[in-house]
Amino acid sequence: MNIDSLQIKISLVENIPLDISTVFIINSLENLHSYSISPDEVAYIKHKASLGTFSISLNLVFPFRYVIYIEKPETKPNLIEHIRGLANKISDETKHQELDKICIVNTTGEAGMSQHVAESIFLSMYQFLVHKSDKSKQNKLNEIILVSHDITKAQAQWLHELVRSVYIVRNLVNQPYSHLNTEIFADAILSLCSLENVSIENFDKTKIESLRMGGLLSVNKGSNNPPVFSVVEYKPLSHLNVKPIVLVGKGVVYDTGGLGLKPTTNSMDYMKCDMAGAAVVVGLLRAIATLKLPIYVVGIMPITDNLIGPEAYAPGDVITISDGTTVEVMHTDAEGRLILADALHYAKKYSPELVIDFATLTGAAMRAIGKHGTVGFRTCTDEQFAALCKAGNNVYERIVEFPLWDEYKDEIKSDIADIKNLGGENAGATTAAKFLQHFTDYPWVHFDIAGPAYVFSHDSYRGKFATGVGVRMVMEFLKINYNLN
Ligand code: BES
Ligand code: ZN
Ligand code: ZN
Repeated sequence: MNIDSLQIKISLVENIPLDISTVFIINSLENLHSYSISPDEVAYIKHKASLGTFSISLNLVFPFRYVIYIEKPETKPNLIEHIRGLANKISDETKHQELDKICIVNTTGEAGMSQHVAESIFLSMYQFLVHKSDKSKQNKLNEIILVSHDITKAQAQWLHELVRSVYIVRNLVNQPYSHLNTEIFADAILSLCSLENVSIENFDKTKIESLRMGGLLSVNKGSNNPPVFSVVEYKPLSHLNVKPIVLVGKGVVYDTGGLGLKPTTNSMDYMKCDMAGAAVVVGLLRAIATLKLPIYVVGIMPITDNLIGPEAYAPGDVITISDGTTVEVMHTDAEGRLILADALHYAKKYSPELVIDFATLTGAAMRAIGKHGTVGFRTCTDEQFAALCKAGNNVYERIVEFPLWDEYKDEIKSDIADIKNLGGENAGATTAAKFLQHFTDYPWVHFDIAGPAYVFSHDSYRGKFATGVGVRMVMEFLKINYNLN
């Protein structure tokens, strides 16, 4: 499969081309004749203006013209998300009209509007057709034309690589277990991240054994497919951060629950998505290295499946994580925290500036806030976390902070080992996070993406099934935190 499947390019032009379908972003009804919008059409837009911020199609024949009308005031992130939503509606029309290119013109004087519209259209075009015999339903759009005064070349490249990485993450997560086992995933990391200033090490089982990674090895015991511990390091010659940012991702390519087997319907049947955290890390490293950002970043991905073979680890087992902590396994379905324990311990050797982990870790996080945000836990500084939250709001991958209060630690005390991998019946996302915290000694953020990573109905430009959540938020965070672009 071609995991890197984005087929769309961005072209920058000086002047608005003729005979191309165009989206006009407007916030006033003045001077629209200079964009060849007739007085009748202006009257039509005016007639609709009571709708607030809205979009309309001006004509039914080629070249099509669409208008996004922006009315103030609204708080900025909400307004921009509204605009992305309108662009998603326009993208639906372009699909019916089988357009192969579209121009976006921002007349508002508010910088960057065409980027938001282009991003939404790009992301809305995503399809996962690899296993369909009939490819004729493929969207035709392959070019977005932007007028150069609204976007620099560097911004256009950023947008392109960002969207490309979201596509890659969606492809990886949507790819079923039959086509993405540990070995294929490890190979995909090699092929996607082999870029300048990147070194990749995929530790095999022997190496993992020598590092005594008892979390990863135990979860893998029920499987015939060996585990992989993938470390991807991007270190450009000059970088703004002395100590690296470490990104950790849960890479469970399939989670049956192990001997504590999951039910099939609405549970195990979508557990191909349980490597979404690792996929985000791959997508981010690929984007960061391709854009040659001056930031030192390391990705760490423990990769395994969680199966029920004769050797499978069992409830009641005691296992030893690579840092020496003994864990009583009370539930084999709480496997994510076990493999992440080894990864978070491994991250210590970098004395990182910040560690961010992404994991489809708990159904509890999903039940708490659904698909509309990411549950976050942190020991990092207020400044670091504020920058992440701001980034999350900007791109509408919103973060909700949950507590890491000490009291929750009591729930993972074990009678016979140092800790156990299961808390009480409440606060499941938090007891999982408390478990992870045990293996950290650096500024850390844990994102439980079980809710937003994989959705079951169409959700605007986020699409259906894998969303790629996390990529846009971290890229925006890097932009804010290091003054990039
Ligand atoms: N992979 C699941 C969590 C999950 C749930 C991801 C829904 C995506 C959507 C995780 O390994 C798991 O099974 N967690 C258990 C933990 C429990 C046994 C403590 C859960 O949340 O039920
Ligand atoms: Zn599980
Ligand atoms: Zn899992």
